[in-house]
Formats: sequence, structure tokens, C-alpha cells
Amino acid sequence: MRLDIVTIFPEYLEPLNVSLVGKARARGVLDVRVHDLRHWTHDRHNTVDDTPCGGGPGMVMKPDPWGEALDEIIASGSGGEQVEGTRVPDGGPTIVVPTPSGRPFTQELAVELSERPWLVFTPARYEGIDRRVIEEYGERYDVREVSIGDYVLAGGEAPVLVMVEAVARLLPGVLGNAESHRDDSFAPGAMADLLEGPVYTKPPQWRGRGIPEVLLSGHHGKIARWRRDEALRRTTVNRPDLIERADPAAFDKKDREM
Ligand code: ADE
Repeated sequence: MRLDIVTIFPEYLEPLNVSLVGKARARGVLDVRVHDLRHWTHDRHNTVDDTPCGGGPGMVMKPDPWGEALDEIIASGSGGEQVEGTRVPDGGPTIVVPTPSGRPFTQELAVELSERPWLVFTPARYEGIDRRVIEEYGERYDVREVSIGDYVLAGGEAPVLVMVEAVARLLPGVLGNAESHRDDSFAPGAMADLLEGPVYTKPPQWRGRGIPEVLLSGHHGKIARWRRDEALRRTTVNRPDLIERADPAAFDKKDREM
């Protein structure tokens, strides 16, 4: 998968060199390219922002540098160029615009994005990017305005780190054990609609605290049942909204299978 990230703070994306994403890059599963938006400015001060039309506080990112940056980056990868074994489609990239005004980033969206061969992220600072940029590219490409949560950050770089990590761990060959996302909270399937329950490892006693006996019993049916009860308990406490949204028929069916 190819990832392009355009930012005025390239150094903010340095964590993409470490841990899971860093390893995926080293292995050639991910081709990550970070670009400095100021490269596409032409004035002495490398200006990327200006005052908002209609007045108001803050600054708005100018359309010109974004347009030039996106044109050049998209041209560099279009026309069927081979990228790490993935043919980047002539249809161009999926463009992800982090913004608190976007649609919520969910595990479902992470899965959808992980199936795309090419993502371009446009993290903004200030009050956001001039609307015409989103309109212009939205006419030609799949543009997604995405929010990682109901809070406002100083810029879209941290949301990009969040989204890239969520997407990268879904790519084939990135996680050691392909089963490890099966029981993730929010994963479709086994524990659908429930948060993941608590986990334990050795030693069997720590500061006078033991491990639930069932987990040491070797009885797979009972362990599955216990995990499900704990997932339900945790979801009820931490995310009652998920319980309300869940389909009771799906719970009953799952329980009969255990
Ligand atoms: N930029 C600032 N806040 C954000 C958020 N919550 N999600 C995505 N991008 C953002």
C-alpha cells in the first residue's frame, strides 16, 4: 500500500518510522512518503495560510499550495506505476482529510481504507483547508473527511498517526498473528458490538492477585463463555450506547453456539 502525507510539520510524522508501521515499511508492505507542504509555496515566507473570508478568528490554509502538492503527488503515482508490488489504479488515490467536522473514524472505515492501494492524507493546521480544495478533488477522486473523535486537536497530524496505525495493522503480513484482530473491540464477527474483555498473563500470582480460575482450566468452551460475559460486562459499564445499538437476536444466536 502506498501512503502519501502532506503536512507543514513533516517531523510530526516521525513515529511512522518505529514499531508496527516502521516494520511494515522496512518489509515493503507500506510505502510511506511524507511531503512538506511548504515545498509548493513560492513566496519568501513560504506562506500556507491567510485570513478567513467573511472574517472571524484564526487562519485558513490557502488552496494554491494544496492544489500544486496534490497534482504533483497524484501524477507521480498514476498511470499504473508499480508501487511495492501493488498497481496503483488509474482511478487515483483515496484522499483522507482529517477534520473534526468529518465522519467518525471507525474500525469499519479502517477496514475499508486498508483495502485501498493508495491513500493520500492532508492533515491541516489552523481552521482548516479552503473548501474549494475538497470540492475540486472530490469531483475526481474518493475524498473522505474524517474525524477521530469529538474533540478538537491543534492539527490533523496526530489523527493521521492514529488512522495509519489502525489501517496498517490490518494489512496482510503486518501483525505476527493474523488471528489477533479477530477478537479486537469493534472487529466484525466473533465479539461483534462488544468491547474486548480483560486479559492476563503469567505469573499466576502478582501482589496477592490471582487469575480467574477458568482461564487456567484448559476448558475452551468455558473460557469462551467467560470471555463473552466479561466483554458484555465491560461494554455495559464503558459503552452502554453499544449495548443499546446491538441486535439482541445476534447475541442470542452467539450464545446458542457456545
Ligand atoms: N483535526 C483537529 N481535530 C481533529 C479531529 N478530532 N479529528 C480529525 N482531525 C482533526
